[in-house]
Amino acid sequence: MASDTKILSISNSKGGVGKSVVTMMVATALAEKKGKKVLIIDCDSQASVYEMYEQEKDMYPDKTPLVEVEALSPRRVATFLKRFGDDYDIIFIDIPRMTDKKADNPTVMLLYNCSGILVPVIGSEVDVLATQEFMAVIEECRSFKADMKEEFTAHGFINRRNLRKSNDLAEDLLHKAGLKMFKNSLSDLKIFTTPSIFKSPLSSAEGERRFGEFFREFCRKFKV
Ligand SMILES: Nc1ncnc2c1ncn2[C@@H]1O[C@H](COP(=O)(O)OP(=O)(O)O)[C@@H](O)[C@H]1O
Ligand SMILES: [Mg+2]
Repeated sequence: MASDTKILSISNSKGGVGKSVVTMMVATALAEKKGKKVLIIDCDSQASVYEMYEQEKDMYPDKTPLVEVEALSPRRVATFLKRFGDDYDIIFIDIPRMTDKKADNPTVMLLYNCSGILVPVIGSEVDVLATQEFMAVIEECRSFKADMKEEFTAHGFINRRNLRKSNDLAEDLLHKAGLKMFKNSLSDLKIFTTPSIFKSPLSSAEGERRFGEFFREFCRKFKV
C-alpha cells in the first residue's frame, strides 16, 4: 500500500456514542474542503453508513457522493486494503460495537491497521467506564505500532456536550487514563443527527459555526 494513505478510525467499544455520524461528517469535510479522496469502510453488521450511502444514491441519482463507502466484514479488510488501499488519501474504518475484547479480536485487528484513533465520549458514567476499558485496546494498538515502527496517535473528544452530563469529570478521568482530549467538542444538535455522504456539515453557515473548529483541530492532530 502507498505509504501516504492514512487509515484512521473514530472508535469506541461502546455503541451509540457517535462513531458513525462523526465519521461521515469528518470524511465529507475532508473531501470537500481539502480535496481528499476518502473511503469509509463500514464493518458494522448494522451498516448504518453504508445504508445512508445507498439511500442517498437513490435520492440523488445525478450527483456524485463526496466519499466512497464499502461494507466489508472485518476479516476481509486486510485483503481489501492491500488491493485497493492505494486508491485513497484517507480511509476511515467504522467498527461495530464491541461486546468483550476477547470475543472481539477481529475488531481489535481492524484497529491495528490505523495510524490514528479518535474516541468519541459521552460524559455519562457508563460511557466513561466503557471508554476506560477501551483504553486497553488503544494501548495494544500503540504497542503493536511501536513494534512495527509505525506512526500512531490517539485522541478523545466529548460528543453531545450540551446534554446534562458530567463532561468535566469524563475529560479529567480519561486524561488521567492517558487519552489526550481535544480542546473542541461537539454539541448535541439537530443538524448532526442526519449526516450525509453527499454534503459536508461545512456547507452551511450553522455547520461551519458548530463543526468548523472541531474539524480544524482534527486536521491538525491527525496531520491531514
Ligand atoms: N453530536 C450529536 N448531535 C446530535 N445527535 C448525535 C450526535 N452524535 C450522535 N448523535 C446521534 O446519536 C445516535 C448514535 O450515533 P451513531 O453515530 O450511530 O453512534 P455509533 O456509531 O457510535 O453507534 C444517532 O442517532 C446519531 O444521530
Ligand atoms: Mg455505528
